[in-house]
Amino acid sequence: MRQPLVAGNWKMHGSRESINALLRKIMADYDAACGVELAVFPPYTYLQQVQELLSNTPIRWGAQNVSSETSGAFTGEISAEMLQDFGCHYVLVGHSERRRLFGEDNLLVAMKFIRAAKTGLFPILCVGETLEEREAGNTEQVIQQQLLALLDISDGREQLRRGVIAYEPVWAIGTGITATPDQAQQVHAFIRKIIAKNDENVAQQLRILYGGSIKASNAEAIFAMPDIDGGLVGGASLDAKEFIEITNLCKR
Ligand code: PGA
Repeated sequence: MRQPLVAGNWKMHGSRESINALLRKIMADYDAACGVELAVFPPYTYLQQVQELLSNTPIRWGAQNVSSETSGAFTGEISAEMLQDFGCHYVLVGHSERRRLFGEDNLLVAMKFIRAAKTGLFPILCVGETLEEREAGNTEQVIQQQLLALLDISDGREQLRRGVIAYEPVWAIGTGITATPDQAQQVHAFIRKIIAKNDENVAQQLRILYGGSIKASNAEAIFAMPDIDGGLVGGASLDAKEFIEITNLCKR
């Protein structure tokens, strides 16, 4: 059975003070016995603070991005080895904000995924279509291309078992508009089908999270869908009470 995962993407938000307060509340209210795995993704500069606060807790954490390169003259980049050295468990790759605002294409995202997984991290591959793509009827085609960029590489196929996938329709991120549970389920089932063509076992074990304006008020119906194994939560993860409520709604 796939253990549900709720991940909080803090994006470029927070300060030492606010992160301290947020994490302390999350730690106090999260009950690992609920069976839902919890993870947070702070900006790089707060990784050490998060590592210290979360040591000896079951809450996992990771980075929001990683370089596809191992080391060298890449000013401003952070390697998978560095994140691993730090104790990160997860790393997000190919978030739509990275793709859209920073020009990351499918191949670069696949390279990041492979580098991260081979280094020992557990990458979360974000995929999703824009509103234009959905309205043109191209949702499945776009998602398939995003997945095949990874699956067409033999290392990618192999490393996928270490990963998690997050389906995040771009039109639902930070907009307050969520995909309906049926819309999300349809794409999640499609993702699992594409992966099953390569490896049925991996497809059955792989966790596929939904992301895009998840809130405590809409999480239950989304998490009830058979191919939705949890959520990647942006805005609502900055509110400890809301985030924990979402986590509790993900119980199987
Ligand atoms: P949101 O962000 O929950 O604020 O829509 C989700 C994400 O970008 O991962």
